[in-house]
Amino acid sequence: MRFERFHFAEISSTNEYIKELIDDYDIVAVSADFQNSGRGRNGRVWLGNYGKNIYLSIGLNFENINSYSNPGVYQAEASLIIIEVLSDLFPQIKFKTKYPNDILAENKNGIYQKLSGILIENSYHGNKLENLIIGIGINCDQLSFPDEISHKATSLKILGANPNKDLICSKIIEKYKYSIQEASHSKELHLMERWKNELSISGKPIKVQGDQRTWQLLDILEDGRLKLNSDNEEKIIDNGDSIIYEIS
Ligand code: BTN
Repeated sequence: MRFERFHFAEISSTNEYIKELIDDYDIVAVSADFQNSGRGRNGRVWLGNYGKNIYLSIGLNFENINSYSNPGVYQAEASLIIIEVLSDLFPQIKFKTKYPNDILAENKNGIYQKLSGILIENSYHGNKLENLIIGIGINCDQLSFPDEISHKATSLKILGANPNKDLICSKIIEKYKYSIQEASHSKELHLMERWKNELSISGKPIKVQGDQRTWQLLDILEDGRLKLNSDNEEKIIDNGDSIIYEIS
């Protein structure tokens, strides 16, 4: 397996830089102490102080390794891997996944706040998935956040943990190295089922931005999009960040 891990003090964005490397590896990881142009989902910026957080991208090149037939599985797998690693290292903290790709952690008041965000980007040639980049930001040692997100963001340090950033990255990378060796259909089904349970979205009232109605989950489609229904009407959610549901 062609694998390499790179770490930089400062970089534009680990997701951006990894695109230059991905053709030369089967799996490659890039991390940094700081990103000066970090990106979030939906064209948002991803900010973070120098040396305080994890900024990690993992690139999978499907030239020589098998891809899942259902691309939504990558979305499921990313959240599940991160939650597994964090729960293993910090058993005293409760973590939850929130659709589309956030990891929340419970604070001392029992409220779940965002600890980690995932940005997945893929590249297709025709309808063949050529490569996929999983960009992972995890708030580790940062103690304060910009005003507009301070009420909904947290970090492992705020939650009383003393995180080893390098160890967390290594464990995530190890799980991906293992995972790419076995991309079976039964594994895909299992991952999607586990993700659906972890999201705890089934049966919950779901609101969609700009829409007064209350929706419910009908299904998670193969590409990870949600199919909702309300009073016999169905709706496909193209932008996962446009839905609101209670995490409990
Ligand atoms: C989100 O919640 O909007 C997703 C945030 C993803 C941030 C990570 S940090 C490492 C990688 N490089 C980037 O520029 N973004 C992702």
